[in-house]
Amino acid sequence: MQVIHSVAELRARLGAEKSIAFVPTMGNLHAGHVALVEQARGHGACVVVSIFVNPLQFGPNEDFDQYPRTLEADCQKLQGLADVVFAPSVAEMYPEQQTLFIELPPIADELCGAHRPGHFRGMATVVLKLLNLVQPQTALFGKKDYQQLAIIRQMVAQFNLPVVIVGGETVRAEDGLALSSRNQYLTETERTEAPQLHLTLQTVAGAILNGGVDFAVLEKDAEAALAKRGWRVEYVSIRSQQGLHKPQADEKRLVVLAAARLGATRLIDNLEVCL
Ligand code: PAJ
Repeated sequence: MQVIHSVAELRARLGAEKSIAFVPTMGNLHAGHVALVEQARGHGACVVVSIFVNPLQFGPNEDFDQYPRTLEADCQKLQGLADVVFAPSVAEMYPEQQTLFIELPPIADELCGAHRPGHFRGMATVVLKLLNLVQPQTALFGKKDYQQLAIIRQMVAQFNLPVVIVGGETVRAEDGLALSSRNQYLTETERTEAPQLHLTLQTVAGAILNGGVDFAVLEKDAEAALAKRGWRVEYVSIRSQQGLHKPQADEKRLVVLAAARLGATRLIDNLEVCL
């Protein structure tokens, strides 16, 4: 496995590769990332993982400085799984100030986008840059970040990017909490409470499967249940899997998405429901 920090070296190493599977990350790797990298092996002869904490996708009051940077441990986890790790500095990724951005579709202003202004614009911009640098045939993203995946799919389709996007299933702790680098911000008490987010989504999914059709009421009840337990809820929302729009009455493929804060930590999760 080769660890590369510069764009020039990356291009030289990957120039002749014909079958690249790519997993972009911000590092501090856990079993969710590792599962994506393992899945990548089935999609390409050369597996590339990027590790880059992208300043463009963090708001001024978010955790960019605090975000855990653990390159050495990450590389150990990737030994035997990845062929190339691309870990550029901020100066290498943004040698000049980024003044051009991807302009996003309306869905990027809803759900997480309504609470993290500029986040998806910064995310899509760095993903486009990374896809241009690595030029993979396949790129893999987790369903854990469902809205991110939906926006990337739209960007790739609408800009005719020559890459196939593959979605990986969410990897969870035994108690149901979706793995996330941000889980380590949780106190012990908060960590005990955290699986409640997933449990709440399961309750909503169960109600839909049992014929519940008043989605607004299901969403409000779920938000109230979390708030009562001390969560600061941003949203619980039932959407269509395709494009994340508000579902039609006969929609069969739904997803329940939620974001809520436990103390200082913001957690997101989602659950697909097929009728
Ligand atoms: P990061 O949060 O490091 O996640 C990297 C990839 O791992 C994303 O595709 C994410 O959806 C996936 N992932 C995270 N937790 C997961 C879990 N529990 N199960 C399955 N997959 C999981 O997402 C980003 O970085 C950045 O926004 C990035 C796309 C790299 C652009 O900067």
